[in-house]
Amino acid sequence: MAKPKTYYSCRQCGYQSSSWLGRCPECGQWNTFDEEVVAPVSTAGRSPRHSTAQDSLPKLLHEVSSSETQRIPTQCAEFDRVLGGGIVPGSLLLIGGEPGIGKSTLLLQTALQLKDMRVLYVSGEESEQQIKMRADRLMDPSAPEPMACNSSLFVVSETSTQRIFEHIEAVKPEMLIVDSIQTVSTDRAQSSAGSVTQIRECAAEFQHYAKESGVPVLLVGHITKDGTLAGPKVMEHIVDAVLQFEGDKNYGYRILRAQKNRFGSTAEIGIFEMLEGGLRQVANPSQFLLSQRDKTLSGAAVAATLEGIRPMFVEVQSLVSSAVYGTPQRNANGFDLRRMNMLLAVLEKRCGFKLGAKDVFLNIAGGMKVSDPATHLAVASSILSSNVDIAIDPTVCFAAELGLSGELRPVRNPMQRVAEADRLGFERIFVSAYDARLLNKKRYHLEVIGVSVIEEVFRKLFA
Ligand code: TYD
Ligand code: MG
Repeated sequence: MAKPKTYYSCRQCGYQSSSWLGRCPECGQWNTFDEEVVAPVSTAGRSPRHSTAQDSLPKLLHEVSSSETQRIPTQCAEFDRVLGGGIVPGSLLLIGGEPGIGKSTLLLQTALQLKDMRVLYVSGEESEQQIKMRADRLMDPSAPEPMACNSSLFVVSETSTQRIFEHIEAVKPEMLIVDSIQTVSTDRAQSSAGSVTQIRECAAEFQHYAKESGVPVLLVGHITKDGTLAGPKVMEHIVDAVLQFEGDKNYGYRILRAQKNRFGSTAEIGIFEMLEGGLRQVANPSQFLLSQRDKTLSGAAVAATLEGIRPMFVEVQSLVSSAVYGTPQRNANGFDLRRMNMLLAVLEKRCGFKLGAKDVFLNIAGGMKVSDPATHLAVASSILSSNVDIAIDPTVCFAAELGLSGELRPVRNPMQRVAEADRLGFERIFVSAYDARLLNKKRYHLEVIGVSVIEEVFRKLFA
C-alpha cells in the first residue's frame, strides 16, 4: 500500500511546500502553514476518475447538441436573476458571506419554496431541531408572506462526507445543500475540518458527485475578515459559480452578487431585505433606498449608480464643518476615503474653497457601499452643498465622474441611468457634456443637463 503523503500548505492562498515555512512566499502571510496528510487515491472509496474513454472523445463543435439545459427555477426572481435564470442541473455553486448575513436562511428558504422537489439539506453547523425552528419561523402563517412548505425536504446534521454520501444513497435527492464546506471533512485527508486540504478534497468530492449524478450541489462558504472566501483559491476553480452574499448587518438589505458564473452574467445582482419572516426580494432598490427621504437638507445629493447592470439610486450625505481640533477629520462610510480626499483636493483647487481647514464626513445612506466612479459628481455636489449650507433640489440627481483637473467625464451606460431617473420621477439629471451629446433628450421627460467642469455645476446649483 502506498504511504500517505505529507506536505504543508498555506491556509490563506493554498501554497504548498514539502517543509514547514514561517512566512508564505506566495501571499506573504506569517504563520499560516498547516501540516496536511492525504491518503493516496487508490485506498479511498471514491475515485475521481469516472468517465470512460467513450464519453471523453473529442467531438466536432457543430455536432455538440446546443439544446438549452433545463434550469431549475428557484421561485425567487432575485436569486434566479443572479444565477442566470435558475439552477443548472449538475452544477456546483458556492454561496459565500460573512457569518450571520443570511446564507443559511436563503438556502433553507429556497429549499422550502421548491415544491415537491427532493432536497437534502445537510448542516454541519446546526442540529435538525435548529433547522426545524428556523423553518417554522419562515413558514409562520401570521407573517405577511409565509413561505411554502416543501413536503420532500430532508434535513440532516452531519459533517463526514462519507456519511453524507450514504445519506444521499438513501434519500436520492434532486438537489443537495451543504452548510457549510468549512464544517465537513473527508476521511481521505487527515487534517481537521476547515483546513485547505479538507476544503479542497471535499469540494472535489461534491463536484464529482454533481457531475456524475446531474444533481445540483449548493455549498455554503464562510469568508474571512478581509472579505475573501476562507480556504484556498483552488475551490473557486472547482465550483461553477461563486455567489457572494453581502450587506451591512445593521441594515436590513442584502445583496447577492455573482463573482464567477459559468452559466450567466456576473453583472447581475439580487437584492433582498432581511425581515422577521426571512428574506424578501426587493424588486425596486432605488425606491427602497430613496424612500426614507422626507425633506432634503443641505449636504444631500442623489447619485445614479449602476450595480453591475442594475441602476441603483443612492443618497450621498456629507457634513462639512470648521475643524475644532488642529488636524481636520476626514471620514467616509460606504465610499473610498482616498477618493474622497482626492475629490476634496479638486474642489479646493477648482472652486476655491478652503476645505483644508474643515472636517468632512461622508456617508452613503442605508449602509450602501458604492465604488462606481459615476458617484463622484454627487459626492462633490453634496460636499459643496454642505459647505455653503444650501440644500440641493430633491428632484435633481447626478451621474458623472470627476477628473483631477475638475473636468466631468462620461460614465458607463448613461442611457440606462437617465431612463431610470426618468422613471423614478426626477426632474433634472447632471451628466458630463460628452454624455449629454450622446443622449436623445426627446425620449425623456426630465431635463438632461450636460456640464463640462465642476465650477459650472456649482454655479447652476447654488447661484
Ligand atoms: P443566517 O442565515 O443564520 O446567517 P448565516 O448562515 O449567513 O450565518 O441568518 C442570520 C441572521 O438572520 C440572524 O442573526 C437572524 C436573522 N434572521 C432574521 O432576521 N429573520 C429571519 O426570519 C431569520 C430566519 C433570520
Ligand atoms: Mg449559517
